[in-house]
Parts: sequence; structure tokens; C-alpha cells
Amino acid sequence: MKWKAVYMVNPHRGDIMEKIKADFLLLNAGQLVTVAGNSDHPKRGKELNEIGVIADGAVAARDGVIVAVGTTDELQKRVELTNGTVCVDACGKVVLPGLVDPHTHVVFAGSREHELEMKIKGVPYLDILAAGGGILDTVRSTRAASREQLVQVARKYLDQMLAQGTTTAEAKSGYGLTVEDEVKTLEAIRELNNSHPVDLVPTFLGAHAIPEEYKENPDGFVDLVIEEMLPAVKEKGLAEFCDIFCEQGVFSVEQSRRILLKAKEMGFKLKIHADEMVPLGGAELAAELGATSADHLMVVSERGIEMLAASSTVAVLLPATTFCVMGERYAPARKMIEKGVAVALSTDFNPGSSPVNSLQIVMGIACRQLKMTPAEVISAVTINAAHAIGRADSVGSIEVGKKADLVIFDARDYRYLMYRFGTNLVERVVKSGRLVIGG
Ligand code: NIG
Ligand code: FE
Repeated sequence: MKWKAVYMVNPHRGDIMEKIKADFLLLNAGQLVTVAGNSDHPKRGKELNEIGVIADGAVAARDGVIVAVGTTDELQKRVELTNGTVCVDACGKVVLPGLVDPHTHVVFAGSREHELEMKIKGVPYLDILAAGGGILDTVRSTRAASREQLVQVARKYLDQMLAQGTTTAEAKSGYGLTVEDEVKTLEAIRELNNSHPVDLVPTFLGAHAIPEEYKENPDGFVDLVIEEMLPAVKEKGLAEFCDIFCEQGVFSVEQSRRILLKAKEMGFKLKIHADEMVPLGGAELAAELGATSADHLMVVSERGIEMLAASSTVAVLLPATTFCVMGERYAPARKMIEKGVAVALSTDFNPGSSPVNSLQIVMGIACRQLKMTPAEVISAVTINAAHAIGRADSVGSIEVGKKADLVIFDARDYRYLMYRFGTNLVERVVKSGRLVIGG
């Protein structure tokens, strides 16, 4: 424990009362949504609806870490304030743990608004890619950008995310597709992680698409990923996870298995873009390899659902992507929850399939299209999202010992967050015990 307890004799009761020193205190949360109790394992089934609401709640922190959680009344008695203690009055509003976005492609150059008309006309996402557009369009602009330019552009996106309540996010490479450009992207992610309040978890996604120069020799590109990219990323310590786009016309299940097995052997944790457009069996592969997460799953098979339910792999659902690619089928969230799959939600923020970096938008779509309850949605963007990126020990819930990452919303009932749609309801954001939005 980092803080020092001071023992005082209570003159009225004569017993010993423990006083906790704090340099940050949030009081008067109408609903303090703690999402406590699931740091060891992600929530499944009915657990997803249990979000630990404390009426008139309060949180105290010291050195950026939560030291006490309870009612305002309790904490006013238990917490010893110092001269410099920052007190924040939540004025009866809803307070959530800082939101966790477990799947983003936040570092890229350029934009792809020209694809919108093609999508409206019904040109499929994979056809745009096969014609050299889509991901490959962004690869061209990202290769042409310097690391500094990538940092500058992504910093703006991270500012927007923080202002909308995201305090931790996963960030993938994948628009470089050469050793040099993948390393450049991951170095940009490292620089942002060291200089921006949003905590980033880096993922190497060298196998995001077959670049133009390997069009005639896709297996040669798989060799390049295995023999050169993975060792370079490993040697420089630039990524914690390895991901792959396992999809028809992109990487087959066999190619995905080859890359991911090698990555696992080298000590990377695994993620898979699985069963997004065509049910190839990405979910099954994720469960087989013990991946930390399987993401997308719009067209996951029955067997894939069964295998995920029996595994520790978290299913990261990305309904803003289905919305933006104008897909007909959303991931079968209800069936997954009923079968016991651990479900999380994310934006998939990227320049093509989801130019959406607001988790609040995703939360609204998840209720309406995935038919998830507001409480399930909150579990899915906090503790389960933290599990999907291996950070459930430090973020994703309001509990003693975790980072003091908190969001105050302009709402009196947590269901209001999903009921309203398209307005940023964030009033204040606290990151590691410091007010970073809405001073
Ligand atoms: O998760 N599906 C593959 N990758 C991204 C899209 C990337 C892009 O279109 O630029 C996704 O949807
Ligand atoms: Fe993605």
C-alpha cells in the first residue's frame, strides 16, 4: 500500500478510527458506478448486469491510485485531507470508471471520406480493398508520413477520446506493412503513451492487409511478418500484443495460425480480427490459441460461440463498424451473453470501417442494435474491456489499488448515457487522480 494510515482516537466513541490520507477526493456522486469485483476474471452472463452502484458515492485517491471508495458520508469521516487535496463535487451526477477502448487503429495518416459514396452505392468493403483502396489507401498516406506527423495527427484524436471519457485505449499498427513503417507507427504509439494522458496498450498488426508489392506473393509477405517484422518489434520492445486480419481475401486461417503461433512463441499476447465479413473460423482459432481477445465476430459460427464461451478469450464487439460499413448483420451479442461468452465493446476507431472514436456512440448503438442492457454495456466498456487488453489489474473499475481514472457525466441515472445519443455528456475526466477535462 502506498498511502500512510494515521490512527486517531474518536473522542465520542473512544475506539480507534483509521484515517486515510488523500490528495484527491470526489464527493456527492448521485450514482457511483464502481463495476467492482471482477478484476480476476471478465464478467459473463448475469454478472454483466451487476455494476455495483453506490448512491451518494465518493472516491479518494493518493498519488494517482484509489485509496478509499464508499458513500460521501463514510469518506468524509475516514479521509484525512492535506493542504493540497483536490476536492471535486460531482453534484449528484453519474460517475463511471474511466472508459476503456480495447480496439483502435488510432495512428494513421489521411482520411477516406471518398469511400462514403461507394458504400452508399453498395460497393462491399472487401471489394474496395481488393481494388487497391480501403486499408491500402491509408497505407500509402501512412508510409508517406513521418513519425512526428503521425504523432501530431493521433494526438488530436486522443484529445477527442479523452474529452469523451476514454482514459485507456489499445492502439494498433497496421498501416505501414514494411518493417520500417510498422516500427515507425509503434514508435509513434510509444511517444504518445509517454506524453498524452490516455494510457495506450500497443499492438503489432503487421498482418493487416497484403501490400501492393506482395500482391502476387502473399505467402512471401507472411514470411516477412514472421522473419523480419516480429523480431524487430520484439527486439525494440514496441508491442505487447500481436493481431491479424483473418478474412477472406486477406489472411487465411492457416496463414493466421502461422503468424500467431510464432508471435506466441516469442512472448506476444494475441488478438484476432475474426469473422467480420465471412465466417472463416477466426473465433475458433482465437479460442484454440488462447488469444486474449477475438474482435468483430459479426458472422461468428455456433461452434465459434461455444468455443469462446469455454475459453478465457474476450469477445470484443464493434457495432459502430457494422453501422459505418452499413452491414446487415450485427454481432449476435445476446446469444453470446446467453451462452456465457465474456463480451466487451470498442470503437474500432480507424479511417475506413469506423471513423468513430466516441465510446458513448458505441454504447448507444450497442443498446439499440446488439440489444444489450445499459448495465451490460457499462461492464463491456469498463472491466471487460480492461480484460481484453490485459489491464484489469489496474483499470476498468473503481476499487482500492486501481488507477484513479473517473468520468463525471451530465446525467443522474446511468441509463441516461445510452438513452441520449450523439451528444457528449462528459463533464469532467480524472486521470490518475488529476482533473484533465473540465477543471
Ligand atoms: O477493424 N478489418 C480490418 N481492419 C479495420 C479496418 C481498417 C480500415 O478500413 O482502415 C477494422 O475494421
Ligand atoms: Fe480493427
